[in-house]
Amino acid sequence: MTQDELKLAVAQAAMAYIPANCIVGVGTGSTANFFIDELGKIKQKLVGAVASSEASAQRLRGHGIEVISLNDAGSLPVYVDGADEITQHLHMIKGGGGALTREKIVAAASKKFICLCDSSKLVDTLGTFPLPLEVIPMAQSYVARQVILLGGQPKLREGFSTDNGNIIIDVSGLKILNPVELEATLNNIAGVVTNGLFAHRKADVLLLGTASGVKTLVA
Ligand code: A5P
Repeated sequence: MTQDELKLAVAQAAMAYIPANCIVGVGTGSTANFFIDELGKIKQKLVGAVASSEASAQRLRGHGIEVISLNDAGSLPVYVDGADEITQHLHMIKGGGGALTREKIVAAASKKFICLCDSSKLVDTLGTFPLPLEVIPMAQSYVARQVILLGGQPKLREGFSTDNGNIIIDVSGLKILNPVELEATLNNIAGVVTNGLFAHRKADVLLLGTASGVKTLVA
């Protein structure tokens, strides 16, 4: 199976987790796009969606799904998104697409987080994928120095601005043995809006696309 076929399979499996007449939280990225396309097929059964990025909002609207602000929606029953890396404990690195802050907000406001991945994303230890930090532009150099003190190698994502008008610093060289602790440490650096570790609010369910079918892992 191709990677796209695996992404489609997990997106279809996620539909079983969407209650009728709900507002659904929607992630960002190529896997989330497959999910949005599946949502389009059941749009009559949805009240609407809260999007974690402008790109996802646009795709949702393209399917005729109402995009509702999180402030109007309140608590959501379910949030569905991909990840760049995930462990068996359902800790994740996210933000390859730069939408990590809004993703973290919508995930935090959701009762259940369903993560959709193809099997290439499942890792023993997080950190091979560079960890994104969303940073206030004036703090770029300061944050980079703090990251080096923590043993990471910071790299500015050139020519990229987040939906919130900030920059992304991608950090490589970290072997992340304690994601909960590192998530808090990085968020305590002045100028960091948030980081791409989703460990404090990890996924509740992982739908993993494999050659032998979709496997379900529960936290
Ligand atoms: C977006 O900022 C990311 O968190 C994505 O959810 C993550 O990078 C997964 O993207 P793909 O499904 O495109 O691999």
